[in-house]
Amino acid sequence: MTLLVTGGSGFIGSNFIIEWLKNSSENIINLDKLTYAAKLNNLSKIKDLKNYKFVKGDIGDKELIDTILKEENPRAIINFAAETHVDRSIVNPEEFLQTNIIGTFRLLNSSKKYWDTLNEEKKLGFRFLHVSTDEVFGSLDQNEPPFDETNPYKPNSPYSASKAASDHLARSYFHTYKMPILITNCSNNYGPYQLPEKLIPMIILKSLALKKIPIYGDGKNVRDWLFVNDHCNAINVVLDKGIPGDTYCIGGLNEKKNIEIVNIICDILDELLPIKNQNISSYRDLINYVSDRPGHDKRYAIDPSKIINNLNWEPKETFESGIRKTVKWYLNNQQWMQDFIDINYYQ
Ligand code: NAD
Ligand code: DAU
Repeated sequence: MTLLVTGGSGFIGSNFIIEWLKNSSENIINLDKLTYAAKLNNLSKIKDLKNYKFVKGDIGDKELIDTILKEENPRAIINFAAETHVDRSIVNPEEFLQTNIIGTFRLLNSSKKYWDTLNEEKKLGFRFLHVSTDEVFGSLDQNEPPFDETNPYKPNSPYSASKAASDHLARSYFHTYKMPILITNCSNNYGPYQLPEKLIPMIILKSLALKKIPIYGDGKNVRDWLFVNDHCNAINVVLDKGIPGDTYCIGGLNEKKNIEIVNIICDILDELLPIKNQNISSYRDLINYVSDRPGHDKRYAIDPSKIINNLNWEPKETFESGIRKTVKWYLNNQQWMQDFIDINYYQ
């Protein structure tokens, strides 16, 4: 049996593959374009395993996808591949449309052609799991209930609009062709291997360099944080037990304001790596409010009742334990982070 994972060299994909291979001898093929967001050595520990194979390529490359599907006969496809950084989508949206919309469409279309060739038993067992985000639902006011599977789509950034379009395409392949599609909408992830252009690793990167920590706007925007392994575990559960055509909202019931996140990380760093500098006494002294992100969504929050009640999933990590693990991982893997600093974006 074989699983095709796209975007497996990025943050969540790497964690997914590493965890999967700890528990399964099933073959995994990782198809990744290796954009700026990927790091092959995320997977250096497993790269020589007999049941792991890496293919460099684009989900939008029809010929390549057709060939992989024909030769490898996967029983399931998990589509992580995407352009994912909201700030980049504001500056340069086109790449987001190309990968997230056209790329997902081509992957779906090739998968449909492949699925049509399967016998009835394999057709029934086949799954295409499209990994999406809570950002497709838009932004919540302070007093609104968290998003669940019934919320209408109201994406606000080119990133979330492109993800919303990809979700609609995935949905249409179930509705029109009855292809066994599953869609997951997860809240903000954190953990090892996340690129330091995203908030949590950015705070750690800036702190370790004793540089200013940029907080957009008033720092009161709210995100709902989930440890990455809990997301990966939820994807496994949906792949196993999810009902084709259904969508599943995934989240850890852990809403925090950005300023709270920054303060928590600064306090952990103060404890683990106290500053020896005459001018500042705490990492909190590095906090710097900067201009807001254009169209900055105020609040995201997920109600994960459906996946908890119907599929028996629950997050294992508390925010307190997960964030400590994460800070320690970055402290122990500073070279991993340094490799990105050459890119002007991070200066
Ligand atoms: P990431 O940016 O860290 O990694 C994306 C990976 O996709 C990279 O390895 C990149 O090389 C690859 N990729 C990009 N374009 C490609 C293409 N055309 N063909 C093949 N590979 C391509 O992203 P992530 O944070 O790991 O997110 C993975 C998925 O999860 C995305 O679909 C994202 O929308 C979704 N998601 C992310 C979060 C989060 O908090 N990070 C939360 C919910 C959902
Ligand atoms: O909600 C899920 C989404 O979470 C995923 O779909 C996206 O791929 C992922 O990037 C993430 O999007 P966000 O925009 O919420 O994540 P980001 O880490 O970029 O920002 C988190 C919050 O922190 C947001 O309110 C903006 C703020 N921020 C971010 C950065 C990078 C700052 O205040 N300063 C910063 O330097």
